Amino acid sequence: MKMKPRTFRSFAKINLGLEVTGKLPGGYHELKTIFATLSLHDLITLKPRPRGIVIRSAHPGVPCDETNLCHRAAVRMQSLAGHTRGVEITIQKRIAIGGGLGGGSSNAATVLRALDSMWGLNLGPEGLVDAAKSLGADVPYFLFGGPALGLGRGDDIHPLDLRLKEKVLLVPGAGGVSTAAVFGQFAARGGGPRRPSRIDAFLRHCERGESPRVATLRNDLGPAAIAVSAPLAATARVLRAAARHHGATLAAMSGSGSSFFLLFESTSARADAARELKAVGIPSRRCAFVSRQAFASGFEVRRAD
Ligand code: C5P
Repeated sequence: MKMKPRTFRSFAKINLGLEVTGKLPGGYHELKTIFATLSLHDLITLKPRPRGIVIRSAHPGVPCDETNLCHRAAVRMQSLAGHTRGVEITIQKRIAIGGGLGGGSSNAATVLRALDSMWGLNLGPEGLVDAAKSLGADVPYFLFGGPALGLGRGDDIHPLDLRLKEKVLLVPGAGGVSTAAVFGQFAARGGGPRRPSRIDAFLRHCERGESPRVATLRNDLGPAAIAVSAPLAATARVLRAAARHHGATLAAMSGSGSSFFLLFESTSARADAARELKAVGIPSRRCAFVSRQAFASGFEVRRAD
C-alpha cells in the first residue's frame, strides 16, 4: 500500500439567499437556499495507515476524537469499501468554526471525496450523497460545490449554471450564535414562508439566461439571529452602513450566522469597505467565488502548486 500523504482543499460556502419554506417531520425546518463556494479553504491531509482512524489538528476548537465529522466520514467510507484500512487526517483550520460557513461539513465531504479516490472506490459525488446526508444537512452540498440550489434540509442539491462575478468581502464569525436558538426565535416570531419567493424569481431569471440578480436575495433567518445576539445586531448595523457607503450589491448573513458577507462589483469599492470596517475593529477577508469546475479541478493540492 502506498503511504504517501495527499492534501486537499476544503472550501467554505455562503448562502446567497435562504428561505424557510415549512416544517419537516422531526421538527427541522424546510429550506430553499442558494449556495455558493468561496475561495477560503481549510487544508486536509490524508495519510494512509494499515489500520485505525487518527485525527490531528493544531486548532483548539477541533475535536481530535471519534466525534469529529471527518472521523465519522472515514468510518462511512470504510463500510462502503468493506475494509478496515486506516487513515491519518490532519486538519489545518482557516474557516471560522460555527460561523455559518459550513467548515465542518466541508471537511467531512472532503474526506468522503478524498477516500473515494485514494481507496479506488470511484463512487463519485452522486454515489456519496447518502453517506453525506447521514453526516449532516450541509455535507451533500460540498460533494458538488459551485452555485447550487439546496432544498429539504438544504441537503437535496441541484447544481446551477451561474457565473458569479461579484467580489466578496467576508466578515467571519461575528459572535457565535446557536443554530437551534436562531430557528427557535424564527418560529417564535411566527416566521413562515416569504411570499412570493425571491429565490424562485431569481431562478426564473437564471433560466432565461439573464445575469443572476443576487441583489434580490435575502436570508429569512437574519432578523431572528439579530434578535438572539446583541453583538451580532451591532455588527449587522455597521455592515449595512458600510454596504450603503460603498455601493454593495448585497449585504447578508450566511446560514444561521454568525458570518456576514458583502458583495461588490469592483475590487476598489471592496477595499474601501474593508478599510472602513477595519477602522471600527471589524476584521474582514477578501474572497472570490469558486465555480463548480474550479471546485473539482482545485480539489487536490498538487506538489507544484
Ligand atoms: O443542524 P444542527 O444540528 O446544527 O441544527 C440544530 C437545531 O437547529 C436543530 O435541532 C433544529 O432545532 C434547528 N434546525 C431546524 N431546521 C434546520 C436546521 C436546524 O429547525 N433546517
